[in-house]
Amino acid sequence: MSNTFFQKDIVSVRDFDKQKFEEVFQATDKIIGMNQNERRELARGKTLGYLFFEPSTRTRLSFESAMASIGGTSIGIADASSSSAKKGESLADTVRIMSLYSDVVVLRHQLDGSSRFAAEVSETPLINAGSGTEEHPTQAILDLYTIRKEKKRIDGLKIGIVGDLKYGRTVYSLLYALSNYKVDVRLISPPALKIRADSTYEIRKRLSYTETTDLEESLDDLDVVYVTRIQKERFADMEEYVKVKGSYKIGLELLKKMKEDVIVMHPLPRLDEISHKFDSTPQAKYFKQAQYGKETRAAILALILNEKGI
Ligand code: NCD
Repeated sequence: MSNTFFQKDIVSVRDFDKQKFEEVFQATDKIIGMNQNERRELARGKTLGYLFFEPSTRTRLSFESAMASIGGTSIGIADASSSSAKKGESLADTVRIMSLYSDVVVLRHQLDGSSRFAAEVSETPLINAGSGTEEHPTQAILDLYTIRKEKKRIDGLKIGIVGDLKYGRTVYSLLYALSNYKVDVRLISPPALKIRADSTYEIRKRLSYTETTDLEESLDDLDVVYVTRIQKERFADMEEYVKVKGSYKIGLELLKKMKEDVIVMHPLPRLDEISHKFDSTPQAKYFKQAQYGKETRAAILALILNEKGI
């Protein structure tokens, strides 16, 4: 099979179709089935360079761990205040330099548009690991992979997305991804955190979704409940944050209102929107999801680095 990812950037899920997702899913399944020696050939002698201008645990560590698992190494800046960005170096120069030292660049930045811009100046393929409130494409890929693995299909499912739909970039990437499938989406948020209509304009014809504020009444027919954190750091006014903070809490009592085979997902970090007591239920899949994050990222890196694919 031809590899459409070879030496290509991953900036937006809007550049993906069903076939591309399928390519990554198949590569992920293949990598999981490989022995350690085979796997380590995929990025032997290659370097991943990461630039994180915003905090991260899973995304950065899973990229690093994924790169190590396929035989490559990682270098990078996990805290922009320790880089020359602090001295006033531009994003363009920082990215350009990193791309001279690495075979693939992974960027997280607080500005919408940062990744598209960085991809233009980078000498090597660039992966968007979160650009402002706009997108987080590799998160959507691992989210779809999780749904496909845990529910055995994507088409035909009813999917609820709960929480901060205004500022959550994972939400937008997930919606763009889901618009390639036949799914029913229910968007559940406080009125102040509704989806940004301008950002979903182009998928509205392809994706059927409804909006509500009532979580309890929305749960009974959902196959997937995707919970998100209220993005405190994106609020211009802290009083507005205080008003919506703690709007929804998924705990054991709500489990009774859900289908028995529902899966509950979260990109993490979670604060109090899912209670810790929920973690030990079979429906809780957010840690599994984080694990799939490493495997899907290993597949993405291997596809970008190997012309013949995996
Ligand atoms: C998300 C992000 O950075 O957008 N985190 C992640 O990468 N899993 C979600 C969040 O911060 O709430």
